[in-house]
Amino acid sequence: MKWIQIFTSLCLFLLLTQTTNAQQSGTVSLGKVKVVFTLDQNGAPVYEVYYNNKPIILPSRLGFRLSVDSLFYTSFQLTGTEKNSNDQTWQTVWGETKDVRNHYEEMVVSLRSKQPPGYQLRIIFRVFEDGVGFRYEFPLQPNLKYFIVTDELTQFNLAGNYKTWWIPGDFDSNEYPYTTSPVSEIDNRKMVGASTEIAVRDAPDPFAVQTPLMMKTGEGLYINIHEAALVNYSAMQLHVDRKNYSLNASLVPDAYGNKAYLHAPFKTPWRTIMVSDKAADILSSKIILNLNEPSVIKNTAWIKPMKFTGVWWEMQIGKSTWSYSDFPDSLGSDGKPVPNGKHGATTANVKRYIDFAAANNIQGVLVEGWNTGWEDWFGKWKENVFDFTKPYPDFDIVELTRYAASKKVNLIMHNETSGSATDYERQMDTAFRFMNLFGYTSVKTGYVGKIIPRGEHHDGQWMVDHYLRVVQKAAEHQVMLDSHEPVRPTGLQRTYPNWMASEAARGNEFNAFSIGSPPEHETILPFTRLIGGPMDYTPGIFKMKGYNVSSPTRQMHTTLCKQMALYITLYSPVQMVADLPENYETHKDAFQFIRDVTTDWEDTRILGAEPGDYIYIARKEKGSANWFVGAITDEEKRTADLSLSFLDKGKKYLATIYRDGPDADWNDKPESYKIEKFIVDNDTKLRIELAKGGGAAVSIFPATEANIKEYKKYKTIF
Ligand code: NOJ
Ligand code: CA
Repeated sequence: MKWIQIFTSLCLFLLLTQTTNAQQSGTVSLGKVKVVFTLDQNGAPVYEVYYNNKPIILPSRLGFRLSVDSLFYTSFQLTGTEKNSNDQTWQTVWGETKDVRNHYEEMVVSLRSKQPPGYQLRIIFRVFEDGVGFRYEFPLQPNLKYFIVTDELTQFNLAGNYKTWWIPGDFDSNEYPYTTSPVSEIDNRKMVGASTEIAVRDAPDPFAVQTPLMMKTGEGLYINIHEAALVNYSAMQLHVDRKNYSLNASLVPDAYGNKAYLHAPFKTPWRTIMVSDKAADILSSKIILNLNEPSVIKNTAWIKPMKFTGVWWEMQIGKSTWSYSDFPDSLGSDGKPVPNGKHGATTANVKRYIDFAAANNIQGVLVEGWNTGWEDWFGKWKENVFDFTKPYPDFDIVELTRYAASKKVNLIMHNETSGSATDYERQMDTAFRFMNLFGYTSVKTGYVGKIIPRGEHHDGQWMVDHYLRVVQKAAEHQVMLDSHEPVRPTGLQRTYPNWMASEAARGNEFNAFSIGSPPEHETILPFTRLIGGPMDYTPGIFKMKGYNVSSPTRQMHTTLCKQMALYITLYSPVQMVADLPENYETHKDAFQFIRDVTTDWEDTRILGAEPGDYIYIARKEKGSANWFVGAITDEEKRTADLSLSFLDKGKKYLATIYRDGPDADWNDKPESYKIEKFIVDNDTKLRIELAKGGGAAVSIFPATEANIKEYKKYKTIF
């Protein structure tokens, strides 16, 4: 009898502990991707990620240190698990594809602290076919209202010493060139120290890197870690524990060292982990977009992708100046500022760019240096520098508005703040009304210099909210936004489709005023910075050497054809035609590609990709049968084999191939190219040789009868 009693209580005990264990964990999967959530013996939330049943993220901690509870990562119990599925397709206002499928399995775990007062936390996991997103939610609750995030403790424990493509975790800049190294060798000190061309550098942690962080495992899996929907929170960097291959969320602090000031209910940004055995899948992943909220702008008819040119490169290369005068403090004997004679934004010069745009299928003209303030624009941490409604005396805004409209070209406003966000916030309302008054439909903002409020950083919570206030204000005034030097994007262009692009990376301009970027740079950007959203890279430089007035030896680190391929391989709905009009004159035949290429796409196919090596992409123009292909390589020459199987079966097309000349090379012969035309169809496979630092651009249009008579059919040889 006694034994029976013992046996039954043992069974009961086992049953109970099993149910408790079962209750303390959960699994959610889709296709090859699986997430396992558990509370460990201390009640600490832990997650793991598997791809094809192999661990890619080992058990990793979740939680926080909060002002109200420094142990907000332990002593939890699970109070509920909820599962949901979604498989819907939505339409973009603009994007790499017209349709986006949002297919995921969701698991929401609800936790309650076992310590009084029993704080609550929820963690939402979404598993997609190509990765995972998870976010924390502080639900409405009686005892947690206003609080400060002292630290977010999210970990990503890697299953090996993965290869990484990284830039330093700087609180104020993403403008570094990439370093390729195993996790165990990440150390940003040398790079930060050497990067004197970056206006503001603040990277106190030698072992911190920015996201999107691109990685490759020894088995050939591609993994990318980033975040989605960064709203009212600071940007996540990753602190690297080089011995344990562990990445730890490290939020950008404010002047007091705090990371975020919150008021429950609140949902943090999503932490994202993309994974695939194909590099191309990382480029076509829609996880970041899908984890953002749908557009809050109801009427989007005024939002239009475009090409633009501008009074810009000429200042970058020292040919003209942003400022009107060389003397910030002195006036001439007539009581007026003394002109320096080199000011770029003059009425006559702007008209020259308007004419150039009108003649070449370019919809916008950016004018920088049009407004007062440039005499002492950055580096002084000065609060009131620019006036966003006051043109320089030689910029006739009334006449230029009339002239641009008569040529059906849009002028693009420029609001450089030199980091003084407080001053911009005071002037913003007037600045946007001024844009409406003069018919400007786009603005480029800029944040070069240390931030004011002093002590804040470009990537901290205060500035993250500032960029959002600007995009919201712009939306109210039906103005499209291109922000330079903001925090790197996290897919918010879905919610605010007037946020066309950001810079937030090392753009082409670095080739104008610094040693520039190595030839591999553009093969890494799509796997890193562009994962969050479009970049205003400013491609299309045609004069490859000797363009810089004060540094005649300066040169681009690509061939001319690669500059053209970038219109396809570096996605943005706004693409600059960046070089001087006169430099396109000398290569009119090649310039035809830039005249033809669109910025509004229906579909995208990644034809081949490897981070740091090469990228081949084909895109179909929206509402048209035209396709465009771009292929780029790093410093190695390469044979690009491009199947055109995406073309409509049974139809004939005329392909114009702009490719590196046989002697082309980014270093010695960057301007050597060859243009060929062939009839192609969906059986065609192009074989194109890319030079060192080179590329190729191809336009593919439905062939006319005349084309078919005039041009030979392309001979596929493999
Ligand atoms: C830096 C921006 O990236 C560049 O495009 C702009 O011309 C200058 N700031 C001046 O605003
Ligand atoms: Ca910049």
